[in-house]
Amino acid sequence: MANSSSLHFFLLFIALFSVSSLSAAPDAPKPKTQSIIIPVKKDPATNQYYSSLGIGTPRHDMDLVIDLAGEHLWYNCDTGYNSSSYIPVACGSKQCPESSPCVGCNNFPLKPGCTNNTCGLDVFNPFAEFIFSGDMGDDVLFLPQMEVPHFLSGCSDGDRFSSSFLVGLVKSARGMVGLARTELALQTQLSSAFNLPNKFSLCLPSSKENGSGNIFIGGVPNQKPLHFSTPLVINPVSTAPSFSEGEPSDEYFIGVKSIKIDGKVVNFKRSLLSIDEKGNGGTKISTMKPYTELHSNIYKSFVRQFVKQAADRKIKRVASVAPFEACFDAKTIGRTIAGPAVPAIDLELQNEGVKWRIYGANSMVETGKNVVCLGFVDGGKSPRTSVVIGGHQLEDNVLEFDLVSSKLGFSSSLLLQNASCSSFRG
Ligand SMILES: *[C@@H]1O[C@H](CO)[C@@H](O)[C@H](O)[C@H]1NC(C)=O
Ligand SMILES: *[C@@H]1O[C@H](CO)[C@@H](O)[C@H](O)[C@H]1NC(C)=O
Ligand SMILES: *[C@@H]1O[C@H](CO)[C@@H](O)[C@H](O)[C@H]1NC(C)=O
Ligand SMILES: *[C@@H]1O[C@H](CO)[C@@H](O)[C@H](O)[C@H]1NC(C)=O
Repeated sequence: MANSSSLHFFLLFIALFSVSSLSAAPDAPKPKTQSIIIPVKKDPATNQYYSSLGIGTPRHDMDLVIDLAGEHLWYNCDTGYNSSSYIPVACGSKQCPESSPCVGCNNFPLKPGCTNNTCGLDVFNPFAEFIFSGDMGDDVLFLPQMEVPHFLSGCSDGDRFSSSFLVGLVKSARGMVGLARTELALQTQLSSAFNLPNKFSLCLPSSKENGSGNIFIGGVPNQKPLHFSTPLVINPVSTAPSFSEGEPSDEYFIGVKSIKIDGKVVNFKRSLLSIDEKGNGGTKISTMKPYTELHSNIYKSFVRQFVKQAADRKIKRVASVAPFEACFDAKTIGRTIAGPAVPAIDLELQNEGVKWRIYGANSMVETGKNVVCLGFVDGGKSPRTSVVIGGHQLEDNVLEFDLVSSKLGFSSSLLLQNASCSSFRG
């Protein structure tokens, strides 16, 4: 795989990438870019990914956790926060979604998070116990290389609630930024403001490196690293915490039709991989799950088969380390350019012959001295979605969510090309 043509593709990619970042240099008048680049960091304590963006006047820089399932950007506009460029979105205005409640506030003077006749926008953090109410506002958003006027987001005054809506997030986070298939998602607003194609790419940095990855709004500058593609599947039933009847899911599902380990099919009830009429089952991609979660029935067979095929390679099993079940003595495992030399995991996709191969760097997690574990976890007996592909399996891979042609383009491990998401930094 790491042949000279893929290396060549990669170098070409880097070259074009440099050109696009030069054209967006700070003193350039207008962002004449083919894509907008937003750096992404990984927090080792939570395994979450976040970006630092600025909002309001004066500019407030804040860390926002990246959520592929998030429907909009939201932040904490607590007592100490104010912004003179903030415009509350009025109830019933064309920007206000029809289903939104109308919120008010009696305090004076008014500020973001406390205005009358304002369109409500939920503040949802998957770790919090409740969905909190927030306000929809229009304010300036600062990206590393440009300003975006009239960006729509939600904010809520965290001081008004007895429990925190920031619970479980990266310690420095003040909110979240959503990349779901919605009108208010970051990529949708930016693509429309800058006339870019409605697509975005994610390159998540790995735990090992202290580096940073990127989100490319408008897609990666050069398509060459995207060797594979598969249709994005629409789940007909919403998977959001609150929704109206008949709404499809705005998360990203793909059609996995079987799982193989070193070429051998893992046995489990195949229907778990399809989406039923209630929207249960199937496979989605999540940035809020650190490790891929498999329905219990899939997980059991998957682990059993991986352990057996690892044993065939003379890899020695050791005691489990929670939350992982299959752990091994690292001294009995060889190294490859793409991580530990363990059995390869293939997600066979619905389009014939296309597979997503997961190599050692993405399948294994180092849990201690000389111990590595199969980095997949048991998703329980009746999860809403049977396979949730998590962050560890996405790192150092380029993924492009193309919402124009409804396709997911992917690179497989960049490590095969002697690269990583950190090497894409502008
Ligand atoms: C917030 O800023 C606005 C506009 O600059 C000002 O009118 C308002 O009084 C400020 N609110 C607070 C609570 O300081
Ligand atoms: C906001 O609405 C409340 C309730 O209708 C009203 O008492 C208050 O005066 C309003 N505040 C402003 C600044 O308009
Ligand atoms: C990683 O980055 C953080 C923040 O930039 C820094 O404080 C820390 O020293 C770095 N760690 C390593 C191992 O480079
Ligand atoms: C990979 O990169 C390293 C450091 O950048 C370099 O020393 C090494 O020769 C490269 N290997 C290949 C196969 O290109």
